[in-house]
Amino acid sequence: MEDFIKKSIEEIKETIGTRKAICALSGGVDSSVAAVLVHRAIGDNLICIFVDHGLLRKNEREQVEEVFKKEYHMNLITVDAEARFLDKLKGVTDPEQKRKIIGEEFIRVFEEEKEKLTDIDFLVQGTIYPDIVESINEDGGVAVKSHHNVGGLPEKFGFTLVEPLKTLYKEGVREVGRALGISAHIVDRQPFPGPGLGVRCLGELTKEKLDILRDADFIYRDEIEKAGLNIWQYFAVLPNLQSVGVVDGQRTYCHTIALRAVNSKDGMTADWVEIPMSLLGKISKRITDEIKEVNRVVYDITNKPPATIEWE
Ligand code: XMP
Repeated sequence: MEDFIKKSIEEIKETIGTRKAICALSGGVDSSVAAVLVHRAIGDNLICIFVDHGLLRKNEREQVEEVFKKEYHMNLITVDAEARFLDKLKGVTDPEQKRKIIGEEFIRVFEEEKEKLTDIDFLVQGTIYPDIVESINEDGGVAVKSHHNVGGLPEKFGFTLVEPLKTLYKEGVREVGRALGISAHIVDRQPFPGPGLGVRCLGELTKEKLDILRDADFIYRDEIEKAGLNIWQYFAVLPNLQSVGVVDGQRTYCHTIALRAVNSKDGMTADWVEIPMSLLGKISKRITDEIKEVNRVVYDITNKPPATIEWE
């Protein structure tokens, strides 16, 4: 890995020289490792853009800023785009439509930020080997991962792409990240979809529903971390389902939260995880105690296939 890092830095220096590069940083493993690697090579000539689309998990924006601005002293621009994303998504319930709007708006925000900068020649992307393989099917058409990283930010911007991780598998990327000294909570981070909570908050996206989901997801992750369980991917879902409950003798009509936890190698198939019942009970109690808009918690016990990992 030391060798890979040394060679990559030399190559990036040679390619970019004293010119400037831009990177859409999501805080995920791939874009984070790519950005730190390029930062090692060209320093402040790398400008990272982090778009807060309002579909992030609790404290996510603060964590990204903490690591990349305070720890790595990187040139990071945070764009607060929550209002414009939610505005574009108003009234939209179809999952694919939601994904499309989020993707398009992301590119628009990125484009606007880019316009404010001058002399950018390169675009850094955290593309990894499986992204390339799964993006082109045998007939040369677009395959399963069309909605993932590759092609997300088009070359039509006139940039030259810099993809330092494109020969690596995920585990290799994590190893490079560790060797670069990137903190474990980023390097070992579970997968988080580009459209974020947008595909976990079913039906129309509203700030109110997203906040409920954010709080429930935070409690769930907090308890799993405290219990020291090692699970490939786990998260809360807001199924847009209200049901009757009773609190202090009063009838309630509140939201349901679904909990999902899967183990998988590559996300193509997945097995649901047997979290101990006592822990599930504790999580359920905390969620209903701490979030007044929730009166019911259910656990998803479905594999992929037939289900997908995300609910949308
Ligand atoms: P599914 O739900 O298709 O998810 O079984 C498989 C893996 O892919 C992630 N996923 C996405 N990632 N954009 C992404 O960047 C997306 O639109 C998207 N949809 C699903 C999902 O979290 C899981 O790890």
